[in-house]
Amino acid sequence: MGEAAQSAELLGSLRDGYRAAVFGASGGIGAALCSLIEGDARCDVIYAGARQRPAEAARRQAFAFDLRDEDSIAAVAAEMKQTAGELDLVIIATGILHEDAIQPEKSMRALSAGALSHAYAINAIGPALIVKHVAPLLRRETKSVIAALSARVGSIGDNRLGGWHAYRASKAALNQLIRTCAIEIAAKNKNALCVTLHPGTVATELSAPFQRSVAPENLFDPQFSASRLIHVIDDLSPAQSGQFFAWDGQPIAF
Ligand SMILES: NC(=O)c1ccc[n+]([C@@H]2O[C@H](COP(=O)([O-])OP(=O)(O)OC[C@H]3O[C@@H](n4cnc5c(N)ncnc54)[C@H](OP(=O)(O)O)[C@@H]3O)[C@@H](O)[C@H]2O)c1
Repeated sequence: MGEAAQSAELLGSLRDGYRAAVFGASGGIGAALCSLIEGDARCDVIYAGARQRPAEAARRQAFAFDLRDEDSIAAVAAEMKQTAGELDLVIIATGILHEDAIQPEKSMRALSAGALSHAYAINAIGPALIVKHVAPLLRRETKSVIAALSARVGSIGDNRLGGWHAYRASKAALNQLIRTCAIEIAAKNKNALCVTLHPGTVATELSAPFQRSVAPENLFDPQFSASRLIHVIDDLSPAQSGQFFAWDGQPIAF
């Protein structure tokens, strides 16, 4: 299959020459998403960002940002506005489950204000600030998308096991923030949509300490997850904005 035919299948619902941005390009899933998108001949430019500025490539322009520093996010959005004008696709692929001394809680006895506020800062507040700064850049004439990676365990309705309090609660907060922003975005831009996505359980650093309990057939490699997420994004219409979808396109209850 030729390059053009392959790329037509990738994100055919976006306009030819679409412009994309991936926040979290250094992560397992974020890097796989960047590789897929930058290999698409229909993509004009992909902005790829992480705390450490990633390497640049033919279609890839790198940027640095930190979720805990709104000024860094605002500066990146201003740069994209200047160089790209409008964006067709923004994927927020950042997140933490464990970091240094922070581990997911097995019991409420392990709750700590510091770990809770850090999870909220990285998993909910930072992505919401990205939406704040990039939503005005979304293209108006044709379909445009903001997709933030959440997690099924952030579903309150689906929570039967307990545990992982900070991660679950911060992802539930992310889902609510994205839905709230989606309502506002819809009022201003009828072709835009803003959703949260569950990528499946994916073999990355984030899941590494917990992979032993996952059946091999349920542990995706990042490339598989990324290609499924791209299909989901491609299939979505603005009428589905504000919802939470899994890697297979199924909606997840909040
Ligand atoms: N892997 C799974 O099984 C799984 C399951 C459900 C949901 N998810 C969700 O999918 C998303 C991606 O996960 P992943 O598995 O790809 O994780 P990962 O490989 O650990 O990548 C995490 C990403 O978050 C970025 N990040 C962390 N703190 C940051 C900060 N302060 N500022 C800017 N960026 C920051 C990292 O950038 P640096 O390089 O700068 O650290 C990295 O790009 C997350 O939202 C995660 O919750 C993953």
